[in-house]
Amino acid sequence: MIKIKLINKIVNLNDWVKWLNDKEVTKYSEQRLKRHTHVSQKKFLNKKIKAKDSKIFQIFFNSNFVGVVELGNIDKFHNTCEVMYFIGNKKYWGKGVAASAINLALKYAFKKLKVYKVFAGTYKKNVASQKVLTKNKFKLVGKMKNHLRVLKSSKKIRDDKLIYEKLK
Ligand SMILES: CC(C)(COP(=O)(O)OP(=O)(O)OC[C@H]1O[C@@H](n2cnc3c(N)ncnc32)[C@H](O)[C@@H]1OP(=O)(O)O)[C@@H](O)C(=O)NCCC(=O)NCCS
Repeated sequence: MIKIKLINKIVNLNDWVKWLNDKEVTKYSEQRLKRHTHVSQKKFLNKKIKAKDSKIFQIFFNSNFVGVVELGNIDKFHNTCEVMYFIGNKKYWGKGVAASAINLALKYAFKKLKVYKVFAGTYKKNVASQKVLTKNKFKLVGKMKNHLRVLKSSKKIRDDKLIYEKLK
């Protein structure tokens, strides 16, 4: 059973910090560029809790905290927001957890935030991420050619950024 829970106070950060320092989990995220600690994560989360342009949720699988989904860049004028997500506990990859969590976040976005559109961006190499978006009926609407650097060590190895969106 998959649930998402809106974060409105600091939660236990032990797993979260571990996930953010796991190079496999952050391979296709700019989080890979930083070293994460309890202090940095507490600061990040306090900022998110106060932010007017973000709603951040824990993902639970059978009551286990396994990942995070965020509705970010909430734009009250244009009525849009971006969905971002990760399953930090790799034991739960490939079980449909992200697809279900995104589905629940979409319900929140369309019903509570009443947005017109939700969008998402992924590295082209991140096929699993594209799958969870297409499973949720997102449409591929754009490709930013060689937009992203793949390795910290090389300026030459680049990847396309794919843009997806879903209307209500
Ligand atoms: C991407 C991610 C969120 C997917 O989460 P998940 O819970 O495993 O996703 P789901 O199980 O709902 O679906 C993943 C699908 O991709 C498939 N998949 C996984 N790795 C794949 C790969 N390398 N190539 C092709 N398909 C792949 C799975 O088989 C599954 O498809 P299926 O349901 O048809 O079998 C998760 O792997 C993750 O958190 N990765 C690290 C962080 C990240 O990349 N976040 C997204 C940034 S845009």
